[in-house]
Amino acid sequence: MTRTSQTPATIFLKDYKAPTFRITDVQLTVELGEETTRVTSNLSFSRNTDGGQQVRLHGENLTLVSLEVEGREIPPAEYTHTDKDLTFLAPSDQFTARIVTDIRPQDNTELEGLYKSSGNFCTQCEAEGFRKITYFMDRPDVMATFTTTVIGDGSKYPVMLSNGNLDGHGTLKDGRQFFRWVDPHPKPAYLFALVAGDLACVSDEFVTMSGRRIDLKIYVEKGDEDKCAHAMQSLKNSMKWDEEKYGREYDLDIFMIVAVSDFNMGAMENKGLNVFNSKYVLASPETATDADFDGIESVIAHEYFHNWTGNRITCRDWFQLTLKEGLTVFRDQQFSADMNSAAVKRIEDVQRLRAAQFPEDAGPLAHPIQPQSYVEINNFYTATIYEKGAEVIRMIHTLLGEEKFRKGMDLYFDRHDGQAVTTEEFVAALEDGSGVDLTQFRRWYTQPGTPEITVTDQYDPATRRYSLTVRQDNPKAGPKAPPLHIPLSLGLLDDQGHELMEGAAGNMLNLTEHEQTFTFDDIPARPVPSLFRNFSAPVKLGSNPADERLDFLFKNDSDPFNRWEAGQRLATRCLLDMVEKHDSPERPNAPSGTFMDAFAALLTDEDLDPAFRAAAMALPGENYIGQQMPIVAVDAIHEARSASMRSIGTRFEDDLTRIYNQNSGQDNMGCRRLKNVALSYLTATESEDHILLAARQYREATNMTDRVAALGRLVDTDHPEHDAALADFYARWETDQLVIDKWFTLQAMASRPQAMDDVEGLLKHPAFTLLNPNRVRSLIGAFAAGNPVHFHSISGRGYRFLSDRIMELNKTNPQIAARLVSPLGQWRRYSPERQTLMKEALNRILETENLSPHVFEMTNKSLN
Ligand code: ARG
Ligand code: ZN
Repeated sequence: MTRTSQTPATIFLKDYKAPTFRITDVQLTVELGEETTRVTSNLSFSRNTDGGQQVRLHGENLTLVSLEVEGREIPPAEYTHTDKDLTFLAPSDQFTARIVTDIRPQDNTELEGLYKSSGNFCTQCEAEGFRKITYFMDRPDVMATFTTTVIGDGSKYPVMLSNGNLDGHGTLKDGRQFFRWVDPHPKPAYLFALVAGDLACVSDEFVTMSGRRIDLKIYVEKGDEDKCAHAMQSLKNSMKWDEEKYGREYDLDIFMIVAVSDFNMGAMENKGLNVFNSKYVLASPETATDADFDGIESVIAHEYFHNWTGNRITCRDWFQLTLKEGLTVFRDQQFSADMNSAAVKRIEDVQRLRAAQFPEDAGPLAHPIQPQSYVEINNFYTATIYEKGAEVIRMIHTLLGEEKFRKGMDLYFDRHDGQAVTTEEFVAALEDGSGVDLTQFRRWYTQPGTPEITVTDQYDPATRRYSLTVRQDNPKAGPKAPPLHIPLSLGLLDDQGHELMEGAAGNMLNLTEHEQTFTFDDIPARPVPSLFRNFSAPVKLGSNPADERLDFLFKNDSDPFNRWEAGQRLATRCLLDMVEKHDSPERPNAPSGTFMDAFAALLTDEDLDPAFRAAAMALPGENYIGQQMPIVAVDAIHEARSASMRSIGTRFEDDLTRIYNQNSGQDNMGCRRLKNVALSYLTATESEDHILLAARQYREATNMTDRVAALGRLVDTDHPEHDAALADFYARWETDQLVIDKWFTLQAMASRPQAMDDVEGLLKHPAFTLLNPNRVRSLIGAFAAGNPVHFHSISGRGYRFLSDRIMELNKTNPQIAARLVSPLGQWRRYSPERQTLMKEALNRILETENLSPHVFEMTNKSLN
C-alpha cells in the first residue's frame, strides 16, 4: 500500500457478526428546507444477541441536534460521536430513542443520501446512504417497519413521496404541507426512499392474480408526461410475468416510479418507490433509440423483480450482494427474452458479459461473485456481481431444469420471506427444493476468474464411437484451485447438418473434473460438435476449430447462439490474422475467402430473423478483438477492422444497398437494425454517394434509432456533412438532456484524427458538466471505454485526460470518479510504452490530496 496514515480500512466477510441490537420500527419526520433539512427519527430497539450494552449507529455528514433515550435527553458526556458514528449505552433490552439531525441536501453532490436534482428532493440509500440522512444501524440485516412524514413548502414541493401506502396528508398550522407514508413490510434502511418536488404524474393500474387493484404512478418532470408509455407498459408486463413465471404477487396498494436526471446508477428498487435515472424511464420514438427502449424494459423489470428478490428477501451483509443482483439480473434477462427474440437477447447478454466482466475477471480487480473483502462497497456493484452472478444462476437453472428450478425458487421464497440471508442459504434452498446436489457447484461463488476450456475429439469408425476430451483451467484462481462444476450443453451434427442426438436442445454434460472424456456410441460418422450451446457457462473456449468447421456451424447449427458465435469466431480469426500481418509486406486488406463466403450467404438468407441477421453481420468490436491478444495492438486492430469494413462494403455494395432499401421505411426494430448495419458497411467505403445516403437518412429520419445511426456514420468523416449534421442535431435537441448525451457520446467515440481535440473541446461546451453522472458517462466514460485508438494514443493524452477528470470528480462525486478508473487498470495488456503511461496516470491519481476511499481502492488495486 502506498498510503499509510489515511489508508481506509478493509472490511472482511469473515468478521461478520450479527447485530447486538435490532431496530424494529422507525418513525421518521423529514422537514425539508432550503437551507437546513431537519430529520427527527424515533427508533424502537430490541436486543438481538448478547454482547453488551453498547449501541453504535452509523452517521456521516450529519449535524447532531439532540439525542434522547427513553424520553431522557442524553448529555454529550454520555455519548461518543465521531464523523462516522454515534455510540451510547442501552438502558435495557428494549428501549426507544429519538434523534434529531440537520442535513444540507442542496450541497450534496455525491448523490448519495438525500440530495437535490433539478430542484426536487430525492434519495439514494443503497448501499450506505441512509447514514447520510440520520443516525442508524445502516446494515441490511437490520430490518424495520417505517412510517415517514414529509413536511415542507407545498407550493414548491406539492408531491411528497416515501415508501409504502399513503396514510394521510394535509396542512400544518404553520401553513406547511405534510404527507405521511406507512410501509408495513420490514426493510433494511438501504431500501428507504423519499421524493419531493413539483412533478407531473402518469397513472395506470394493475389487477393482481388475487384480484387486488394496484395504483401505478410514474412521476416525471413537467413536460415529460408523454414519454412514459413504454415504461408503464413494461411495468405492467413485469408484474404479470412475475406472477405467471414465479407466482409472485405485488404486496402494497401502490407502486411508484420517479425519474430523476442526476443519478449515479441506472435505478433503485426502494420499496414501493423506485427511483430511476430518467434514461431508463423516458422514451418516445423521436428521442430514444430501439436500444433505449429495450434498456427501459429491462431496468423497469429488474427493479420491479427486486420486490421479491431483494426486498422481501434481502442480503444479510454486502458480501451477499449477488444474492439479489445476480438473481434479479437473471430474472430480467428471462423476462426480456420472453418479451422479444430470445436468441438476440442471449447474444446481447453474452456480448455485455464479455465486454465488461471478462476483462474485470482477468485483471487486477478480479473478485469472486461473493467477495471476501472490500474497502468501499460501492465499488462492488460490478459486472462480476451482476452479470457473472446472473450466469451462475442461469447455470443452476440449466442443471436443475425449468420445473425443478421453480420448485427450488418456491422453497426459497417460502423459507426465507422476511429475512436477510446469505448466498449459501439461497443455494441450499435450491438444492432442497429440487433434490439436485450443488455441493461442487458452490465453488462458483468463491472462485474468481474465467475458466478456460480446451476440447479435443476423436472418432473411431470401427467402433462408431465418438469421444470428447474436455479440460478446464482457471489460471486466475491459482494452480491449486479445485475444478468447477460446469454445464456443457452439446449438440452433434452430421455432415448434412442434422442433429445426431435426441432433441435439438442437445445434451447436457456435467464437467466436474480438471479433465474428463465423454464418449458417444453409435455415431455413424465423425460429427461436428456444437459446444456450450446458448452459452451454457461463462467460460472461454480455447480450442479453435478449423475455418471449415466454423463455416459449417455458421450455416447449419440449430442453436442460434452458436450459429452467431461461429460467425464471430470466423471473423475474429480473420481480423487477428490481419493484425498479425499488419507490418509485413503481405499485409491483407480484406478478410479471408471463407469469411467472405459466409458473409455472402447471410446477405441472401431472407429466412433469418432480421435482428439476428443484423447481429450476425456485425463484425466483433475493437475491444473484443483486443481481448483475444496477449498485448493489444491498438492501432493495427483499428486499421484491420476498418479495412475489413471497407472491403466488405465495396465487394458487396449491391447486396448491401438492396438490404438497405428493402428494410427502409419498415416500422420494425429488426429491420432498422439490419438497415443500419448495411449503412455502416456502405459508408465505410467512404464513397461520396454513401456519405450522402447517411446524410439523407439523418435528415429524413422519423425516429432516433435511424437518426443516431446516420449521425454516427457522419461523425467519423471529414465531409462537410459532419459539421452540418452535428450542429443540426444540437440545435434540434438542445433542451433534451438525454438526447444531448448521445451527441456527446458520438463525438467521444469518433476515430477521426482530430477526435481527441474535439473531446477536450467539449469539456468547455456550455452543456457539459461534471455534476451530472449521465453527462460524465456520455463524454468521459464513452471516450475511455469506447474509443480505444484515441484513449490509448501513444502520446499519453488520453490517459492524462481521464486521470484529470477522475481527480476533479474525486472532489464532488467519488462513486462516479471511482467507476472511471478501471480502463487504466488494464495496463498489463498494453505495450511497454503504454504501460508506463498508464501507470503514470494511476500514480498521479494516487498522489491526489484528499483521495476518497472509493478512488483510492480502485486506483491502488489497479496498480497491483
Ligand atoms: N440495487 C440497484 C440495482 O441494481 C443498484 C444500486 C447501486 N448502488 C450503488 N451504490 N452503486 O438496481
Ligand atoms: Zn439490482
